Amino acid sequence: MAKVTIDDITIEVPDGTSILQAARMIDEQHGTHIAPPTMCYYSKLETSGGYCRTCIVSVTQGSEKDPRPMPKPVASCRTNVMDGMVVKNTTSPELLEARAGVVEFLLANHPLDCPICDQAGECHLQDLSYENGKEETRYEFNRRRFDPIDIGPYVKLHMNRCILCYRCVKVCDQLTDKRVHGVINRGDHSEISTYIEKAIDNDFSGNIIDVCPVGALTDRTFRFKSRVWYTNPVDAHRGCEKCSGKVRLWMKGDEVLRVTARKDQWGEAEQFICNTCRFDKKKTSDWTIEGPTKVNHHSVIAQNHDDLRKLQVGVKKQIHQLDGVKSELGKGPLDPNNI
Ligand code: SF4
Ligand code: FES
Repeated sequence: MAKVTIDDITIEVPDGTSILQAARMIDEQHGTHIAPPTMCYYSKLETSGGYCRTCIVSVTQGSEKDPRPMPKPVASCRTNVMDGMVVKNTTSPELLEARAGVVEFLLANHPLDCPICDQAGECHLQDLSYENGKEETRYEFNRRRFDPIDIGPYVKLHMNRCILCYRCVKVCDQLTDKRVHGVINRGDHSEISTYIEKAIDNDFSGNIIDVCPVGALTDRTFRFKSRVWYTNPVDAHRGCEKCSGKVRLWMKGDEVLRVTARKDQWGEAEQFICNTCRFDKKKTSDWTIEGPTKVNHHSVIAQNHDDLRKLQVGVKKQIHQLDGVKSELGKGPLDPNNI
């Protein structure tokens, strides 16, 4: 076991735990918010992390045995704790300034097309730049431009929005049997490709949509149907031979507009789901509904739901009051109950 102190909170964790995992454990145990943000690490995907550097932290004491600080910020998703390590994240203004620089780099080529992007409202880059970024950009050059392409019947790739986090590549590598998707070229020319736009048609390929932190990979069956905050997320399940069948339905009235995996508090899929559940089961009768999803109150989706709920309660109250007035007026030629 190793004792590590992150933002003045000490925790004992098994050897081999990363600083990021230790910080998440602290948040889970203490209800704090000290875990660094992540754009490429995904706990369910092996070898993920180490690409985006949003999870950087400052190690002010390396270990009990060797207390020297680390000379520069380290990626917490790829650095394991040592016994006696002291780490700063939210308590270090220099570190937060460095993270703002990372965000600036991530946004260097990212278009500001949030108003027409299907990911708006659940985009991790939007949240990251809001919470850790600067108000203005210093970028003066032309951004990289690619035409959107269809990769397979269900997924649209908007390469302009991609931040090259490699999560989708790991999904194709680790969840599907034949990988036809990867990153080609290097540096500024790097791009996600399916090699001559070959369709991704294997059973678990739809999960690339869920893991993409931005709007680079979107669901073609949902595109432009609704802003996410106008839909109601509902947890549901069905008996499925290929996956757990536990999903989240995004509904508008009785219509199922989209099916996704359920996401945990870190924005990661709890369990990956198959393409049949995701794309072929769009009727409420296909599912056993468990109930409304508990939405994080910081989310724009929750904001709308809370407002809607308040509105619903208000309208119900008024109807109730009106009913009272109606029954007081009683029956007669001007009977309001006939209106
Ligand atoms: S398409 Fe999305 S998931 Fe894939 S590398 Fe780009 S940002 Fe990451
Ligand atoms: S989350 Fe650690 S480098 Fe991307």
